[in-house]
Amino acid sequence: MSRSINLAVVPGDGIGQEVVAQGLKVLRSVLPQDVKLETKEYDLGAQRWHRTGETLPDAELESLKGHDAILLGAIGDPSVPSGVLERGLLLKLRFAFDHYVNLRPSKLFPNTATPLAVGDEQRGAIDFVVVREGTEGPYTGNGGSLRTGTPAEVATEVSVNTAYGVERVVRDAYERANARPRKKLTLVHKNNVLVYAGHMWKNIFDKVGQEYPDVTTDYLHVDAATIFFVTQPERFDVIVTDNLFGDILTDLAAAVTGGIGLAASGNINPTGEFPSMFEPVHGSAPDIAGQGKADPTATVLSVALLLRHLGHETEAVRIEEAVAADLAERDASVPRTTDEIGDALAVRVAS
Ligand code: NAI
Ligand code: MG
Repeated sequence: MSRSINLAVVPGDGIGQEVVAQGLKVLRSVLPQDVKLETKEYDLGAQRWHRTGETLPDAELESLKGHDAILLGAIGDPSVPSGVLERGLLLKLRFAFDHYVNLRPSKLFPNTATPLAVGDEQRGAIDFVVVREGTEGPYTGNGGSLRTGTPAEVATEVSVNTAYGVERVVRDAYERANARPRKKLTLVHKNNVLVYAGHMWKNIFDKVGQEYPDVTTDYLHVDAATIFFVTQPERFDVIVTDNLFGDILTDLAAAVTGGIGLAASGNINPTGEFPSMFEPVHGSAPDIAGQGKADPTATVLSVALLLRHLGHETEAVRIEEAVAADLAERDASVPRTTDEIGDALAVRVAS
C-alpha cells in the first residue's frame, strides 16, 4: 500500500464529467490524511476529437504511463463515427497498457431493482465477478475486408488466442477465486464448436487448476451460461472467459444486478508494469447528460476497485459498505441528483 496516489483522470464525454466529479469527491473523503492524492486531468474524448481530430496522441499516452492508476468516466458521442474513439482511444489504452484482466464484479445489493424474481436468500447469494480477457480474442483488429461495399464483399475478424495470454488471465482468475470465501471458478467458452481456441482454454484451465487444489472448478458453454445468469446467478463465484464472451456476459450481469447505474469495472495490468484503468461500464448517456440525473454509483464503485488494486483494502471496503447502506435507504419515488448521491456517499465514507 502506497502513501501517495498519483491519479490520471479522464472524465471524457457527457455524464462522464458528472460522475467522475463524484468519484473524486468520494475518493478524497475516504482517504486518510496521510495518503497524498495528486490528480492530473486529461482532455480526451469526443469533444477533443471534434476540436483537433486527435484521439490519443503519443505524448499523452506516454504521460498517462507515469500515473499509478487511471479513473475514466465515459468516452463517446453519437456525433463521432462508430469505432473512431473505441479503437483509437479505449482499445488503444487497453492494448498499450496490457490490460489483460477486465474485471467486472456483480452483486445484487439489498433494495435494488432487478428483473429477476428472487427471494431474499437468493438475492444475498448473488455476488460474482467476471474476469474477462482484455487483449486477445476477436478484438485485436486481426482482420480485413475484400471487395468492400460490393455484393461479393468478404470480411474476416480473426480471434487471436495465445497460450501465454490465456494462461496469465486464467491464473489471475484462480488467484481471485482462491481469495474469496466460496473458492469457485467457472470457465465459460464454446469448446464444442470453437474447438481450437476452446480446447486450448480448457487444457490451460485444467493445467493451472492443479496449482489451486482448494478451488472448485466448473465449465459452461457460453449459451448455457446466459441461461444460468438469469435462472441461477447464485451458482457463480468467479468466471473466466475470453474477450468477446466476456463483453456480452458482463452486460447481462449488469442488467440482472441493479442495472448500468451500478456496474463498475477495472482494466487491470496485474504485473503493475502499466497503470490500470477503472471506469463505470456505462457510456456517456447523451440522453441525460448535463441534467444532473446520472447515477454516480458505478463510478464510486470503480473507485473502490481502484483502491483495492493499489492496496487500500480498508478504504475499498468502506466505499462498498457506504454504497450498500445508501442503496438500502433509496426510495425510487424521491429521486436525487448526481451531486446529492455523491455528497451522501462522501459523508458516509468520511473517516
Ligand atoms: P449509455 O450507457 O451511455 O446509455 C444507455 C442508457 O443508460 C441511456 O438511457 C442512459 O441514460 C442510461 N444510463 C447510462 N449510465 C447511466 C447512469 N450512470 N445513471 C443513469 N442512467 C444511465 O450507452 P449508449 O447510449 O449506447 O452510448 C452512448 C455513448 O457512450 C456512445 O457514444 C457510446 O459509444 C459510448 N459508450 C462509451 C463507453 C465507455 O466509455 N466505456 C461504454 C458504452 C458506451
Ligand atoms: Mg460492452
